[in-house]
Amino acid sequence: MDRSTLFRKKPFHQILSDMEAGYAEGEGMYEGLRKELRVKDLTAMGIAAVVGAGIFSTIGEAAFNGGPGISLLFVMTAVCCGFSALCYAEFASRIPVSGSAYTYSYASFGELIAWIIGWDLVMEYAIGNIAVAISWSGYFANLLEGFGVHLPPYFTTDYVSAYRGFGEATQALASGVPLSSLEPAMRNAYEAWNLAPALGPVRIIADLPALAIVVLITYLVYIGIRETKRATNLMVGLKLLVVIGVIAGGAFYITPANWHPFLPNGFSGMMKGVSAIFFAYIGFDAISTTAEECRNPQRDLPRGMIYSLLICTVLYICIALVLTGMVSYKALAVKDPLAFVFKERGLDSISYIISVSAVIATASVLLVFQMGQPRIWMSMSRDGLLPPAFSRIHPKFKTPSFATVVTGFIVAVPALFMNLTEVTDLCSIGTLFAFVLVCGGVLVLPAEEKTAATKKRFRIPYINGRYIVPVLLVAGMIVFWEPFTSLFHYGGDWHAYKDKLPFFLFVALAFVLSALTAWKKLSLIPVLGLASCFYLMTELGYTNWLRFLIWLVIGLVVYFTYSIRHSRLSGNGQ
Ligand code: ALA
Repeated sequence: MDRSTLFRKKPFHQILSDMEAGYAEGEGMYEGLRKELRVKDLTAMGIAAVVGAGIFSTIGEAAFNGGPGISLLFVMTAVCCGFSALCYAEFASRIPVSGSAYTYSYASFGELIAWIIGWDLVMEYAIGNIAVAISWSGYFANLLEGFGVHLPPYFTTDYVSAYRGFGEATQALASGVPLSSLEPAMRNAYEAWNLAPALGPVRIIADLPALAIVVLITYLVYIGIRETKRATNLMVGLKLLVVIGVIAGGAFYITPANWHPFLPNGFSGMMKGVSAIFFAYIGFDAISTTAEECRNPQRDLPRGMIYSLLICTVLYICIALVLTGMVSYKALAVKDPLAFVFKERGLDSISYIISVSAVIATASVLLVFQMGQPRIWMSMSRDGLLPPAFSRIHPKFKTPSFATVVTGFIVAVPALFMNLTEVTDLCSIGTLFAFVLVCGGVLVLPAEEKTAATKKRFRIPYINGRYIVPVLLVAGMIVFWEPFTSLFHYGGDWHAYKDKLPFFLFVALAFVLSALTAWKKLSLIPVLGLASCFYLMTELGYTNWLRFLIWLVIGLVVYFTYSIRHSRLSGNGQ
């Protein structure tokens, strides 16, 4: 096979004709919204997809590690997401068809990169939904408590958390700490492990509510439920109400002493929360799939993405300050921190209201992503890159039935057993990689001639990075001097060294990117987006990189054994 096969591009006219034939990825997802979406609706959709498990759950673990200083991490992450949002916007306005990064990368970079992005998006959509389901389960259990129903702890937690928590709790108990003084999450894990029924040596511990919600949502998606504009707006209203309510109500219960120290575990402690915090922002990119339903996508999509990001950033920072102000950050490693802090302050009824709202709010995120995944597969299948079954449409429900069921399985089964932190990490590394590719993609987009039509499009403001990027590189080296020089102290300790490998890669990339920027006068914003998202990836640790790379390798094996030969562009496809 030659280079031209790997980088063959799907012609733009074919994307359009596929779209007209009902081939476009977003088909049916936003029915009733034809050319109706304006900035306000797009902003609402962004918030609908963004506000979910991140702010309702994963923020807890991040606050536990980083302390009140995670509010700074929210700002940093928002800036990185902002660069990427602009790059998504540029793409969406150049190729205004319903499609995620997959569809337009097929037109711009060719098949191999499109495949890699499509494969990688599974991490954002399907793996991300496992995290949302686990988070949903935490709030659901709390909600049932309000009605006096106590689910056994071994059916509301996962095996790994119970096992680890039991080990830590046993050590603490052995050193004389009473059970009642253990952190709530640890106590729960201890009880789950101790009380779990056993099948021989194996304890039966599984997150049943997480399984149940995925089955229910998959069923709804299967029979063709639609996110309508009205439902989206309603959901967003509810989410905003809860989040603003927590901020306003919680503000009265802040004990400023809880904010000291601001960074109890230093910069590295704060950066342990990268994946959790980044996860909280994921979703604004999903609105780029609505380009065809916008009145004026070129103008409104970029605004919708940026406005939803800005609103979420402000709310998130306030939430972080309120949570860490209400209780000690050390108590926040729970699955339902927003409800938990109110329970801790004796406000049980508010805690229940938050749980009810969180159960509804996170279910809506679940719906958006559970609907998105099969449609990405449907597009890939229609392009011949996946087997035809993935684009089979149910005769009655008019949904991609097979792809929907497969999505249900790959989300539901791991949701039973997997640990929230692990799935969040996987989702974040995969999504960050997609952002890196999108930012990089903007850098290689061919220049457009200025015509009356192209003038109206959104373009990332061009700022010549020639001098700024190298200066930033030098500044970065000064700030990160210690980790930078430590790269060269191998000392024979492979285990210590391997964790530095991603950072090493980042340093190499930073030098290459600076040189290229200086040479080719690259545009500053995509360069910063690419570098900052790649940097966030380096904070996710060697194990996550390894898992992520294994996932990509599996993807490449599928591509080279199946997709390349069945691609419609090869002429052999269906
Ligand atoms: N940002 C989305 C959430 O937090 C994925 O649930």
